[in-house]
Amino acid sequence: MSVKMDETFRCVTCTAPVNIAVIKYWGKRNEKLILPTNPSLSVTLGQDELRAKTSVAFSSKYTEDRMWLNGKEESVSSQRIQNVLKEVRRRVRKRGAPGGGNEVDTSRHIHIVSENNFPTAAGLASSAAGYACLVYSLCKLYGVQGEISDIARQGSGSACRSIYGGYVLWKTGDLMDGTDSFAEQVAPESHWPEMRSLICVVSDQKKHVGSTEGMQTTVLTSELMQHRVDGVVSQRTDDMIEAIMARDFPTFAKITMQESNQLHAVCLDTYPPIFYMTDTSRLIVRLVHAINDVLGDIKVAYTFDAGPNACLYLLKEDVPRVMGLLRHFFPPAQRNGEPFVTGLPVDELPVTES
Ligand code: DP6
Repeated sequence: MSVKMDETFRCVTCTAPVNIAVIKYWGKRNEKLILPTNPSLSVTLGQDELRAKTSVAFSSKYTEDRMWLNGKEESVSSQRIQNVLKEVRRRVRKRGAPGGGNEVDTSRHIHIVSENNFPTAAGLASSAAGYACLVYSLCKLYGVQGEISDIARQGSGSACRSIYGGYVLWKTGDLMDGTDSFAEQVAPESHWPEMRSLICVVSDQKKHVGSTEGMQTTVLTSELMQHRVDGVVSQRTDDMIEAIMARDFPTFAKITMQESNQLHAVCLDTYPPIFYMTDTSRLIVRLVHAINDVLGDIKVAYTFDAGPNACLYLLKEDVPRVMGLLRHFFPPAQRNGEPFVTGLPVDELPVTES
C-alpha cells in the first residue's frame, strides 16, 4: 500500500505484467495520440514472471521531476513521459476535490523509479509493462479513477493492454481524439485456466530497430500492410475472440502463428526491410510445426514481437513434453537463456499496488 506520511509526501509502488499479442498491433494512424491502424488482442502474462515495478512519489522537497529506469537516471523530457504526466495531471484538475478545489496539488514535482525483471527493449514488451505500471502508479498516487488504459496508450500503444488481465482487446476506435481507442477485457484468465505461456529467450540484446520507428517505416512503404488494414486483422480479431470464448486451442494457436508470420512478412516487405527474427527464432518455428505434425494436432503456437524471442502458447498438459523437446533441441550451451514457463494471468486487474 501507499506510504502516506503527510500531504507533502506521498509514495505508491505498483507492479504490472507484460502482455504478448496474438493479434498484432503494428502501425499508427495518429503518431502523437498513438492511435492504431487496426485492432489488436493480447494475453497478459502472470504477475510473478515478466513484470515492471514502479514507485512514484511527490514531495514538496523535490525541486524537479526525475526518473530512474533500471538503476540509471533518464530524462523525463521524452514526449511520451510528458504526455502521460500531463494527461494524469489534467484528469486530477478536471476532477477536483469533492469540496470544489483540487484534492492533490499537481504542481508538486515527482520522482519515478522503475525496474524490469527481464531484458528491456529486447522484444519482450518491456515498454508495455513499463508504461502500464507508470500510469497505474500515477493514477493511484493522485487518486484518478475510471478508464486509464487510454492514458497508458499514450505512453506506448501496447501498454494499454497491460492494464487488464486475461485476454485483452485494444479497440482501434474511429474518433480523431482517440477517446474510443482503449483496452477492454474479452475474458478473464479464469476463463481458460489450462492456458500456459513459455518464453524462449533467444537474445537479451536490444533490438536494432525499435517498434515505433519500425512500424512508421512499414506504414510508409509496405503494400502488404494495407492488405492487413483492409480487413485481414479485423476478421482475425473476430475469429480469435470466438476461439477464446469457445476455448478452441487449435484455432487460437493457428491464428496466433499466422499473425506472427504476417507481422514478420510485413517487416520484410518494409523498405528497407526489418529483420527481427534470427536463425534461432526460425528453428523454434520449425520445431513447433514439427511437434504439431508429430502429435497430429495443433498443441503449441509460437509468436514473435519486435525481437527474436519466442512466446509459446500451449495447454498445461502439454508443458512437460514441449519443455523436454525444447531442452533437447536447445541445450543450455546453445542458447543464451533458459526457456521458462509463466503462469497465465491473474483473474482481476493485473496491476497490483504494494
Ligand atoms: C510487435 O507498443 O512498443 O509488440 O506504440 O510505438 O510504443 P509504440 O509501439 P509498441 O509496439 C508493439 C508492437 C508489437 C506488437 C503488439 O504488441 O501488438
